[in-house]
Amino acid sequence: MNSTLKRITLFLGLLIFGCGGNETQKEEKGSVKLKKQNTEVKTPDKPNVLASATIDLKNKGVGPVKSLVLPAEIDQEMVTQGKDVFTKMCTACHREDKKFIGPPPTGITERRTPEWIMNMILDPEGMTRNDPLARALLIEFNGSPMANQGLTEEDARAVLEYFRTLK
Ligand code: HEC
Repeated sequence: MNSTLKRITLFLGLLIFGCGGNETQKEEKGSVKLKKQNTEVKTPDKPNVLASATIDLKNKGVGPVKSLVLPAEIDQEMVTQGKDVFTKMCTACHREDKKFIGPPPTGITERRTPEWIMNMILDPEGMTRNDPLARALLIEFNGSPMANQGLTEEDARAVLEYFRTLK
């Protein structure tokens, strides 16, 4: 009788111990789920399209350039100047046609308005704060920000002209 009682107590003890173990596992699984949810909140509006590949030809962004109409003809002199500025000030982080620290500018004039591009070059901090697409870009690039290189508006415009030739 005494030994049967002992066995039952042992059995119950093991049962409780076992359940306890399971509960911890469940909790762990729960916290993994929570982490996943947080990541989902961070993704941009259209999770299937990367911010860098998003085409938005309406958004002018936020910054010093409110309106800019590009003439049909590309100005070759400006292109030369723009390429020079790009090589000196931008190639630390951008390669013409492949992803580097930042996205490649090839085809950018088919994805963004001239104003948005100019504002991104001239005031990336303001853009990241106030423009949803710029914010999504920052997230896509794991929080490494576009640098303000202190370009004059003229130099930024020349870089934009150079970007028009990258297709
Ligand atoms: C220190 C690194 C760094 C430098 C230098 C830099 N950029 Fe960037 N740039 C980035 C990163 C990172 C992104 C993407 C993340 C973001 O926008 O916050 C970006 C984004 C951009 C975008 C938006 C691209 C897109 O696909 O929408 C443009 C335009 C741009 N940069 C132009 C330039 C120009 C022009 C220069 C030189 C005057 C320059 N950048 C210098 C890091 C840099």
